[in-house]
Amino acid sequence: MLVTGKQILQHADEHGYAVGAFNVNNMEIIQAIAQAADDLRAPVILQASQGAIKYAGVDYITSLVKTTADRIDVPMTLHLDHGTDFEEIMKCIRSGFTSVMIDASKHELDENIRLTKEIVRIAHSVGVSVEAEIGKIGGTEDQIVVSDAEATYTDPEEARIFVEETGVDSLAIAVGTAHGVYKGEPKVDIDRIKEIDRVVSIPLVLHGSSGVPYNILEKAVAAGIRKINIDTDIRASFAGAVKAFVAENPDEIDPRKILKPARAAMTDTVKEKIKVFGSDGKAWK
Ligand code: 13P
Repeated sequence: MLVTGKQILQHADEHGYAVGAFNVNNMEIIQAIAQAADDLRAPVILQASQGAIKYAGVDYITSLVKTTADRIDVPMTLHLDHGTDFEEIMKCIRSGFTSVMIDASKHELDENIRLTKEIVRIAHSVGVSVEAEIGKIGGTEDQIVVSDAEATYTDPEEARIFVEETGVDSLAIAVGTAHGVYKGEPKVDIDRIKEIDRVVSIPLVLHGSSGVPYNILEKAVAAGIRKINIDTDIRASFAGAVKAFVAENPDEIDPRKILKPARAAMTDTVKEKIKVFGSDGKAWK
């Protein structure tokens, strides 16, 4: 069942857990996440970046996720991750996404507010939810690159103003995580999450969550994080399983045989995350 980002995160907020938001770009990844969500009765967000849409096509992504949502009886949201381009965001809304992210975080506060407000106005008029970002999350997510020097933590007072002015449904905050593979252990500012949660009423989103120790993610959820984004750890499971299979079976040419263990490995990874986020057993329909 497809639901909006607002609906899925509102339930998480009311019940004090975080929804896993997993990046997708092909059928096997979508099936792997759906299997994990179904097995654990967990609400789940399937998100595609602009790069994933360029790779697979917005119609393929939408059709695959809609088919999955019809088959699997847990609440699911189809979300655009890091939309930076007006036309791309409109394309996703037209295609049937139930949530979009406008990432105008590279701009100054006023411009971020202006651009976000415009997307909120259009998306809300057709019942689509909106996530926005304030502060700058470091690392690389597809074509978006933020160096360590550019990364800046979210200021709680700016977050309060931003949410009030834009009417956005959820807010991605920069609190020490980064997209991609970590060089050392990330230092996540849990007190900052608590402070932002105190002054902002909408659900908070943690990006760059692959590789973050589970005890820190649990603290982040307790502090008010309601959506946790995972991409890199799924990629690593996929690539690890494919490499292991090919190393053991160098003559195998059947894509189904090569991809089946990768799909199973991704399901295991997603299940592990769902349990940490506390979303297992929370499917409400
Ligand atoms: P990771 O690649 O670190 O899991 O981050 C994913 C993400 O935040 C997508 O927006």
